[in-house]
Amino acid sequence: MTTFPPRTLRLDALAYGGDYNPDQWSEETWKEDVRLMQQAGVNLVSLPVFSWPLIEKTPGTYEFGWLDRVIDLLWAHGIKIDLATATATPPAWLVRQHPDVLPHNADGTRLEFGSRQAYCPSSLTFREHALRLTEAMANRYGDHPALALWHISNEYGDHVPRCWCPISAEHFRRWLERRYGTIDALNTAWGTSCWGQNYTDYSQIEPPRTSMGPINPTQQLDFERFSSDALLELFQAEIDVLRRVTPDIAVTTNFMSLFKELNYWDFAAAEDLVTDDAYPDPADPYAHVPAALNYGLMRSLKGGQPWLLLEQAPSAVSWRDVNVPKAPGRMRLDSLQAIAHGSDGAMFFQWRQAKFGPEKYHSAMLGHRGENSRSYQETSALGAEIKKLGAIRGTRVTARTAVVVDWDSWWGSAAPDSLPSQRLDWLAQTRAWHGALYALGHTVDVVKAADLTAAYDLIVVPNLYIVDDDQAQSLTTFVENGGHLIVGPFSAVVDPTEKVHTGGAPGPLRNLLGVEVDEWWPVPDGQERTITPLPGADKSTPLTATIWTEWIDPTADADVIARYEGGVLAGRAAIVRNHHGNGAAWYVSAALTDDSLEELLRLVLEEAGLPTRPTSNRRVEIVTRTDGTTDYTFVLNHGTTAATVSVPTGAHDLLAGTDVTEHIEVPSLGAAVLRHPARYDQDLLTVTIPSKNIEV
Ligand code: GLA
Repeated sequence: MTTFPPRTLRLDALAYGGDYNPDQWSEETWKEDVRLMQQAGVNLVSLPVFSWPLIEKTPGTYEFGWLDRVIDLLWAHGIKIDLATATATPPAWLVRQHPDVLPHNADGTRLEFGSRQAYCPSSLTFREHALRLTEAMANRYGDHPALALWHISNEYGDHVPRCWCPISAEHFRRWLERRYGTIDALNTAWGTSCWGQNYTDYSQIEPPRTSMGPINPTQQLDFERFSSDALLELFQAEIDVLRRVTPDIAVTTNFMSLFKELNYWDFAAAEDLVTDDAYPDPADPYAHVPAALNYGLMRSLKGGQPWLLLEQAPSAVSWRDVNVPKAPGRMRLDSLQAIAHGSDGAMFFQWRQAKFGPEKYHSAMLGHRGENSRSYQETSALGAEIKKLGAIRGTRVTARTAVVVDWDSWWGSAAPDSLPSQRLDWLAQTRAWHGALYALGHTVDVVKAADLTAAYDLIVVPNLYIVDDDQAQSLTTFVENGGHLIVGPFSAVVDPTEKVHTGGAPGPLRNLLGVEVDEWWPVPDGQERTITPLPGADKSTPLTATIWTEWIDPTADADVIARYEGGVLAGRAAIVRNHHGNGAAWYVSAALTDDSLEELLRLVLEEAGLPTRPTSNRRVEIVTRTDGTTDYTFVLNHGTTAATVSVPTGAHDLLAGTDVTEHIEVPSLGAAVLRHPARYDQDLLTVTIPSKNIEV
């Protein structure tokens, strides 16, 4: 029997399988399930995610019989378990005995039992019952050979990311008191002398509820931080129980990609394995681009360690207004994209398509038609292919660029009011900057604006509204050591208490960026602004900005790279570059369109000594995983026409089982996984896509 290092996924192959809800089916059906799972190459299933009410029908009495039987049956067929602690949704009896476990919305309305996740994150009653169940689960199954991983709760914050009930309000006050100490310190931090908001006692403070006008921005920001922390506290409480009872078993909770409500840097630090649920919309022909950003985040949350795609839809979901299925090949390609980006497997929601309940129209590996369903045909074919990729397990993705993701800045810049413009959207900006790097052929990691290493040649900062001195120092050191940095508009505006930096933006980054911002000049809806062409570019193609521009003044040493044309800002600097130490820092004062961002980032990449694709392209993606000796280069064609791609020497296509020389043709929605000797400079320099084959 394989032995596994402590707190790692106990599986010696890429994971393949999905959520399994045996409690919705008869035991006769279970037998068919395991047979078909085996046939489809399933080696891991997640269960029993929502079964608390069946395990604990009456308080404190656990009925494990059915769960024992299903776990033993799965194990007898060689299938391991991502074992849920089953605390994702409380039973009705708990809610009725203790109505105060139910969450409230900002208006004070209590949310009623009738869906899942019917709990307030701060409820100690809920926590006590959840921990008791967690301990019972750990005692019961901690030694079971099928146990591969603990799956704590499910998608924290999916339905209830914030709660405004009296218990949450009390928890918020305690959190604030821990953060600020005296009430005077809180008054100073929140700037309550504005609009007469001063407090004389913590008991006077409430979460930001529906109010008469704009609410104190720091109060709002702290409520975001608190709400993320409240769920993290609950997560940590379950982790503590599991670490005590089963210290060697890895723990995870499934994330929801770039999810605004939870600071995943903190959540990832608490767990052993990052897992993600990804639902790119098949109706969007470019959904794979933000998916690449999400996967970049997942692999970066624990410093490049492999992660696991724990849920994706085999075809349609059931929770959008219009739920478009995946075209043949799309599910395979989406799965391979996640693996390319560092996932050690591909899992689905769910195994068998439901017959009842809100998810009966959600696709599953085994569709309503059973073995003949297209989803079973396609997922079982992929299950066979995944086995050919076993050598990839544990390898790392290579990336030379990274994008800064910071939840404080996301929350602060998303305040519902009192900003220069409500149109500058953190997620849209971050996706746009990442998308431009993607189009130019780069795989992009994600970093905090802290502890930056020289591992990257270029770090992009689309929108870092809040900057403290440590972050500023980290960014500065990165550039001084030779790194290239580019910072987008409305960055380094305020400190962590939302106070404007003395002297204005970009506050502690002023010297690094070589610029001072005088005023924000948001662009009215529907209008555009032009910016002079970049050096070396065709003089007839100015850059275009929408949404946002700024009145800035460069310092004497900084180079003005481009200027505004026309309008009030005509002739003023728009894009500035400042050589600093051994590197360079750029400041972009406008929200550029996708084409303009691509042009600018092409220039910045070239100056950083990094390659760029001759023609930008968002359809054909090339990502490399490596063990240092052998590279695995994934060529993923998300487009509607075939692409011809030149290949490195000594390449062998693991999926086709053939050696490849010079070129490979990859059909629409097709993929190749090329194994070849590792090359330090393996990226778009060595794998190029002839432009005639590219549908841009
Ligand atoms: C989430 C949940 C699952 C299921 C899927 C459907 O990811 O974790 O339980 O509801 O959505 O897409």
